[in-house]
Amino acid sequence: MTAIAGYVAPEAKSGDLGVHSLDQFVLAVPDATVAQDFYGNFGLDVVRDGNTLAIKTFGHHHRWGSVVEGGKAKALHHLSFGCYAEDLPRLKARIEGAGVKLIDPPPGFESNGIWFRNHEGVLMEIKVAPKVSPDAKSDSQWLTVPGGVAAASTRAAAPPVQPRRLSHVLIFTSDVLASISFYERTLGLRLSDRASDLVAFMHGIHGSDHHMLALVKSSAPGFHHCSWDVSSINDIGLGAMRMADKGYTKGWGLGRHVLGSNYFHYVRDPWGSFSEYSCDIDYIPKDDRWESGDHKPEDSFYLWGPEVPREFTINCEAGES
Ligand SMILES: [Fe+2]
Repeated sequence: MTAIAGYVAPEAKSGDLGVHSLDQFVLAVPDATVAQDFYGNFGLDVVRDGNTLAIKTFGHHHRWGSVVEGGKAKALHHLSFGCYAEDLPRLKARIEGAGVKLIDPPPGFESNGIWFRNHEGVLMEIKVAPKVSPDAKSDSQWLTVPGGVAAASTRAAAPPVQPRRLSHVLIFTSDVLASISFYERTLGLRLSDRASDLVAFMHGIHGSDHHMLALVKSSAPGFHHCSWDVSSINDIGLGAMRMADKGYTKGWGLGRHVLGSNYFHYVRDPWGSFSEYSCDIDYIPKDDRWESGDHKPEDSFYLWGPEVPREFTINCEAGES
């Protein structure tokens, strides 16, 4: 057989099976009205449906998050991931083959997907859904004007800050390395970078931000933050200021992360977790083999920014205060 000059045979990639998107996060909170005020002021399109809130972004049909009313304290209800239709049977077989038991969906969340609990009991879903993770790096803007023109508007004339999409969530785990292994074996996520066994960032194999799911060590599972993509650093600042004007004064930022490279400002929510305005996060294209690194924690958390407030690392769902 004659080899074709320049032809490189495709590699067999036995591990090339995985979800394409973080479809939505679902929180349970004692009072949905409180959540409606927080996420609405954050710039999200919050639609109330009985005791449930749908969290969308303006100009986008997708439901990035839900808030269900119930319980005495905020809790991560479940995470839902999207996959292609042809991949669902293979993902199901792989998950069952890994010894993970499939379970019934919780009431009100019946779907075409499969449900299971992770190694720490956190409820997860994989369902067939449109790919909502980006197919390319999101554009970001540095708005400037020629000489002789004023660039900044007045406060009153500044446009509303409206995030474009959900980028990722960060959740607490009691074992970061075990979690990496679990999500590789079940969801088919890949490790982007980590800092020892303290923090890890995982991306989707079909093209996604540097992380669609991030993990941080704690004593127990819990929800740390949801991150929302905005188009400019100016939007980060405007959003943070507007939230402070509405009474949401606590948080952390403005700064820039090392792992993921995004500019950030985190606003503390009414339950002690956070929502992040994020801009210009790194992107890992489909089929790209990102060289993941194990970084020194003290050298990789943030490139610049204010000192990290103590409450930033508290896992309220674990009873910490
Ligand atoms: Fe984040």
